[in-house]
Amino acid sequence: MATVTFDKATRIYPGGDKPAVDGLDIEVGDGEFLVLVGPSGCGKSTSLRMLAGLEDVNAGAIRIGERDVTHLPPKDRDIAMVFQNYALYPHMTVADNMGFALKIAGVNKAEIRKRVEEAAKILDLTEYLGRKPKALSGGQRQRVAMGRAIVREPQVFLMDEPLSNLDAKLRVQTRTQIASLQRRLGVTTVYVTHDQVEAMTMGDRVAVLKDGILQQVDSPRNMYDKPANLFVAGFIGSPAMNLVEVPITDGGVKFGNTVVNVNREAVKAAADKGDRTVTVGVRPEHFDISSPNGSGLSKEGPEGLAVTVNVVEELGADGYVYGSAEVGGEHKDLVLRVGGREIPEKGSVLHVVPRPGETHVFATSTGERLSD
Ligand SMILES: Nc1ncnc2c1ncn2[C@@H]1O[C@H](COP(=O)(O)OP(=O)(O)O)[C@@H](O)[C@H]1O
Ligand SMILES: [Mg+2]
Repeated sequence: MATVTFDKATRIYPGGDKPAVDGLDIEVGDGEFLVLVGPSGCGKSTSLRMLAGLEDVNAGAIRIGERDVTHLPPKDRDIAMVFQNYALYPHMTVADNMGFALKIAGVNKAEIRKRVEEAAKILDLTEYLGRKPKALSGGQRQRVAMGRAIVREPQVFLMDEPLSNLDAKLRVQTRTQIASLQRRLGVTTVYVTHDQVEAMTMGDRVAVLKDGILQQVDSPRNMYDKPANLFVAGFIGSPAMNLVEVPITDGGVKFGNTVVNVNREAVKAAADKGDRTVTVGVRPEHFDISSPNGSGLSKEGPEGLAVTVNVVEELGADGYVYGSAEVGGEHKDLVLRVGGREIPEKGSVLHVVPRPGETHVFATSTGERLSD
């Protein structure tokens, strides 16, 4: 086992005007499951391929444990990679597919057989060892690809969107299997996906990339509770965090006709920078909703922001309300989570206030998080 270090690793493709990955700095702990996530084209595969030795590193370094592997060929890095398309050999049996890399490496037949059988047992593939890939389901092929990595007993597993060829239900099952298998084997793993739910459910830590630049590396909990900037705030969480630009006033920020107390230092920091507004983030589950029938009415009118319900998504246990509100003279779409038995009528008007202590404050100018 080993740690993995990206030390300001940079990749500029020939003819490219800006780096596909720019100064990537991540330390992956021994035995850790680290997920690289971000939208398509943000540099996830490039990062993984630099670690694998399949892509040149133009600046910076990559280390596995104490070894500087920046310029080592892939075969000398002691890693095993699982690709999106599995890349199984169609004419070979499952057993031969799984043992192929060991055969190439000159491992003796008895040892290959032992390792393949062990991996097959772990992956529930024992009865399929004699079959060809075409006689397997998508999920079984995926497990063969995993098996091929496991038998090599590498220091590091690299996985690039290994679940994207599976249907939605199987993807959810398989992600749990991979995560628990990784914990059992304790092999340091770098896993790439564009799916933030996959990232949040599988990773010990998650690294968010955008345009080749690392935005934040954190535990799933911290990533959700304290996104470092507007991009992470909007990317992590589904439905996404509501982000509303609001004017700064005395005592807080103005949300409709209510002044909401958000982190004072954060607002002050924005004002000191000369910003007139801040961008306040509120997760769909963090609104207090007063009844649409008018409880919560005060003399000045209903409290909070008036949200007109456009669409309701009922999910049983809860539901999501997609509505619109007027904030600072502009139309703004908002998403609110409501209880499964408190689903409002389409067209009705809700009055909502962000729950105290559950707001996020970002500088409108730079996107950086201001609240702690
Ligand atoms: N072989 C290549 N040559 C030139 N540009 C590339 C090559 N591979 C990827 N890119 C570019 O580098 C950027 C990052 O790509 P990639 O790492 O594949 O993103 P991701 O895996 O996050 O979708 C993209 O802009 C992509 O077009
Ligand atoms: Mg990719």
